[in-house]
Amino acid sequence: MAAILEAKAVKFTYPDGTQALKGVTLDIPEGKKIAVLGSNGAGKSTLFLHFNGILRPQEGDIYFAGTKLSYNHNALKKLRQHVGIVFQDPDSMLFSASVLQEISFGPLNLGLDRGQVLSRVQKAMEATGITNLKDKPTHFLSYGQKKRVAIASVLAMEPEVIIFDEPTAYLDPKSIKEIIALLETINQQDKTIVLSTHDVDIAYSWADYTYVLAQGQVIGKGKPEEVFQNASLLETADLTRPWILDVYEGLKKKGWLPVTAPVPKNKAELLELIPCKSN
Ligand SMILES: Nc1ncnc2c1ncn2[C@@H]1O[C@H](COP(=O)(O)OP(=O)(O)OP(=O)(O)O)[C@@H](O)[C@H]1O
Ligand SMILES: [Mg+2]
Repeated sequence: MAAILEAKAVKFTYPDGTQALKGVTLDIPEGKKIAVLGSNGAGKSTLFLHFNGILRPQEGDIYFAGTKLSYNHNALKKLRQHVGIVFQDPDSMLFSASVLQEISFGPLNLGLDRGQVLSRVQKAMEATGITNLKDKPTHFLSYGQKKRVAIASVLAMEPEVIIFDEPTAYLDPKSIKEIIALLETINQQDKTIVLSTHDVDIAYSWADYTYVLAQGQVIGKGKPEEVFQNASLLETADLTRPWILDVYEGLKKKGWLPVTAPVPKNKAELLELIPCKSN
């Protein structure tokens, strides 16, 4: 699978001397769902800001579709049509008076005509369930509503890669489910999705591939089934094991499941493994 985004030996130090990335090399395969995990301060957001050129590596390079990023105005404008990012903090993204204006801003800047803009905006509002908020001033929105508007404004740009920095943090359980379902839908439309999350259950069930960052370095990578069964990696990265794997291991230990039972990816697969009680 070709890499749509690559980081090669990327180093980045903030002006106050914090070494946020200390030589990060990783690639994002096209069309896949990638989770980036790591404790607070590991460097996830800093890495994400490199993926659409907001930050520039001090050493190393970022590649999009096999081409090294250029940082002139036109190249960045083009890159951002391909790579959209939903920031961790929605307040840092919202600056328009109303929800409708906010989501229209990007598509209008692309030079699309009014009809095309409106159709994209409507689609994005429907996908994120915020059509009823379209005339509301963005500064009156709740946190979860702001998050949805931020997502909608990126969706309306129709980028091939969407980067979500902690899309489910502080959301209520129903919203989390809806956002995860939305991520699934977007991915089925052949888009590449990269997300960071502290929710190991989401990362485990959702991702095709996982990277683990700690102190500005990649310390683990692999399919979630591999990464989350690596106890020493989890400990080093301050991650916990997803509950599905805890229950799966417990059931095996107690003899309810054969030791050869396949590793379940989600709750439905786990329940499927448990045999019916024989009378
Ligand atoms: N603007 C900044 N100026 C100085 N240091 C910064 C800045 N932004 C981030 N850092 C530092 O860079 C390191 C990496 O931060 P980053 O925000 O990338 O981590 P993260 O993995 O996204 O963490 P979190 O899970 O808390 O979102 C941290 O030590 C942080 O304090
Ligand atoms: Mg962050």
